[in-house]
Amino acid sequence: MPNLADVDLADLDRFTAGFPFEVFDVLRREAPVWWHPPTAHTPGGEGFWVLSRHADIVAAAADSETFSSETGGGRDGGGTTLEDMPRGFAVGALLNMMDDPRHAQFRRLLAPTTSPRALRAIETDLRRRAIDIVDAALAKGECDFLVDVAAELPLQAVAELAGVPQEDRHELMNWANVTLDYEEREIGQTSDRVAAAQAQMFVYGTTLLERKRREPPTEDLLSIVTHALIDGEPLSENEQRMFLSLIIAAGSETTRNSIALGMSALSREPEVWERIRRDRTLLPSAVEEMLRWASSTPYNRRTATRDVDLHGHRIRAGDKVTLWWASANRDDAVFADPYAFDVSRNPNPHVAFGRGTHFCLGAALARMEMRVIFDVLLDRVAGVTVTGPVEYVRSNKHSGVRHMPVTLVGRS
Ligand code: HEM
Repeated sequence: MPNLADVDLADLDRFTAGFPFEVFDVLRREAPVWWHPPTAHTPGGEGFWVLSRHADIVAAAADSETFSSETGGGRDGGGTTLEDMPRGFAVGALLNMMDDPRHAQFRRLLAPTTSPRALRAIETDLRRRAIDIVDAALAKGECDFLVDVAAELPLQAVAELAGVPQEDRHELMNWANVTLDYEEREIGQTSDRVAAAQAQMFVYGTTLLERKRREPPTEDLLSIVTHALIDGEPLSENEQRMFLSLIIAAGSETTRNSIALGMSALSREPEVWERIRRDRTLLPSAVEEMLRWASSTPYNRRTATRDVDLHGHRIRAGDKVTLWWASANRDDAVFADPYAFDVSRNPNPHVAFGRGTHFCLGAALARMEMRVIFDVLLDRVAGVTVTGPVEYVRSNKHSGVRHMPVTLVGRS
């Protein structure tokens, strides 16, 4: 059993075998509001609060005045990652690192493009794309499930929705991958590869957004942000560029990891695969269980804006407070037998998409993508065997899969 004195949630080497759920079992039981002391790995030499129980996390996410996604307590930077992001550049400019009222105004602009109704209109196209992706992987037989299957549909879908030319999508994803992986650096550090990827993304984004500004408005997300006005003013160039980075990273990364980790769980239970294949009414609840299981965004940070008492602890204005969605999703106060992968679990109030005002903007899209790709896989694939170790991204911010070698057997 992990000893709290040895826990270091900023040591990324502890995440390379997947999310350390066992550490959070201890935290939920023994220290649900835990002050993580500063370690050699904590950015800025600072400690931070760790919330691990479902109820506390839901309550904190619902109270965005006390737990800010921007900053608090006179702190310079802030944001939703452990390391402080600079004010103006990321904090207050990225949609997810912005507080209301501007956050709500910005978010409202995007609602029509990401509503379930708008998404139903692209479902047929996504299904056609999913069939091509699965057939190409089946033709190989042995493939990398992450690269060949899981990554493609979310990437193609987000390129479509954002209005990014499909032929540029892999380049954009590669830049995003470099910035989301801490392969050769620690939290709060950059590297030559990261700086180069960011510079290329900057140039690409500037050119694409200039084109969108010149062209007549359409309904894609980038066209909306380039033409929109908030309080009579256009969004700043930085806000627009940041939005492009956010949407490519958020839209491609998280969903592919939930698809891959969901497939990995299902591959261990061929009889469950058969059950869902025969009874597709199980697919929506199976998707919810895959989302809970994968918890592909393990945490988001907030900053306390005022002193607040929680379970006998005083959280002070300016303290970093981390909300561990992945831990909430294994809380046995909410989920019976939380380590059982149960595709008919109902209710399933997981928080894989967060909660409150920053609830994932792409949740309906991600759910639809997962439903479509698994529907096509169930139609065409008789069996999936994971043939080698799943290789994880070195990060505590994304439960990311780098590679997942599999053998796919087609249904004759
Ligand atoms: C399985 C897939 C996904 C997971 C697990 C996931 C997870 C999350 C979580 C936990 C948050 C809340 C962040 C916070 O509270 O600080 C969030 C926000 C967000 N997500 Fe997702 N996401 C997924 C897919 C997507 C997709 C496909 C898109 C793009 C179309 C997207 C775009 C966003 C955006 C823009 C936000 C910020 C919303 C705001 O601040 O109001 N996500 N996501």
